[in-house]
Amino acid sequence: MNDIIKTAIITGASRGIGKAISLKFAANNINVVLAARDKTQLERVQEEVKSIPKVKTLIVPTDVTNEEQVKNLVRKTIDQFGKIDILVNNAGVGRFKRADEFTLEDYHYMFDVNVKGVFLVSKYVVPHMVARKSGQIINIASIAGKNGFKTGTLYAASKHAVVGYTWSLREDLKEYKIKVSVVCPGSVVTGFGGKKTEKVDWSMEPEDVAHACYYLASESENVNTAEVIIKPRYNPRKIDWNLRK
Ligand SMILES: NC(=O)c1ccc[n+]([C@@H]2O[C@H](COP(=O)([O-])OP(=O)(O)OC[C@H]3O[C@@H](n4cnc5c(N)ncnc54)[C@H](OP(=O)(O)O)[C@@H]3O)[C@@H](O)[C@H]2O)c1
Repeated sequence: MNDIIKTAIITGASRGIGKAISLKFAANNINVVLAARDKTQLERVQEEVKSIPKVKTLIVPTDVTNEEQVKNLVRKTIDQFGKIDILVNNAGVGRFKRADEFTLEDYHYMFDVNVKGVFLVSKYVVPHMVARKSGQIINIASIAGKNGFKTGTLYAASKHAVVGYTWSLREDLKEYKIKVSVVCPGSVVTGFGGKKTEKVDWSMEPEDVAHACYYLASESENVNTAEVIIKPRYNPRKIDWNLRK
């Protein structure tokens, strides 16, 4: 257990991987600021965090595509905790169709949350980290940020953008001793993108991604891991992507 109390903002903390990261961080003495749109779900996660001794939690309902709401998230975090040690850009959405079936609305939906959201939250957190010459940003991309797959044109394009953003942000922030990493998981059992994943032995769980994020948050100060690619050890299941027209 780490005794130094750090503060982390986690976007998309209302369920799935973001919720698991929040609970993992809190269990390891990291104060967590929970951001997502659904206040009721955030309150439920907050209740779970409150059962963990020592750490503090704050919920800030936030749409990461809304600049004013993002500014509010950063302001409230600084007001309450005085600093931001870690930002986890986890909020993300996916729709899956054949390339020509996507609409411009699908394009904006995915790029707004997956790319603009990462850009906006980073934009308003980075000045605080630069001023302190300290901090860490962990972006949750996907294995779709490294590869392509059937029905994944726009999602993969948005997640490749997150990977590219991360590699450049690393270069911008290196001189300020700020760590920047990207995590690229394969399929994880959540309700993501309306998919129905049959949970079987060896399914990847949100907690597996949370474990990798905590590894990054706790790694030696000397290093700055660039990418973590998480694939299942064994994967016999079939995924129904519940294709939407
Ligand atoms: N599950 C997988 O198989 C998988 C694999 C690789 C990568 N990923 C990535 O992992 C991340 C989390 O996915 P998940 O599986 O945990 O999905 P999930 O269960 O659907 O959760 C998505 C989270 O993102 C939040 N979110 C969506 N739009 C938002 C917005 N505009 N502003 C703020 N928050 C928003 C949602 O909260 P609200 O609806 O309350 O806003 C929710 O907390 C995503 O970036 C996803 O691309 C997932």
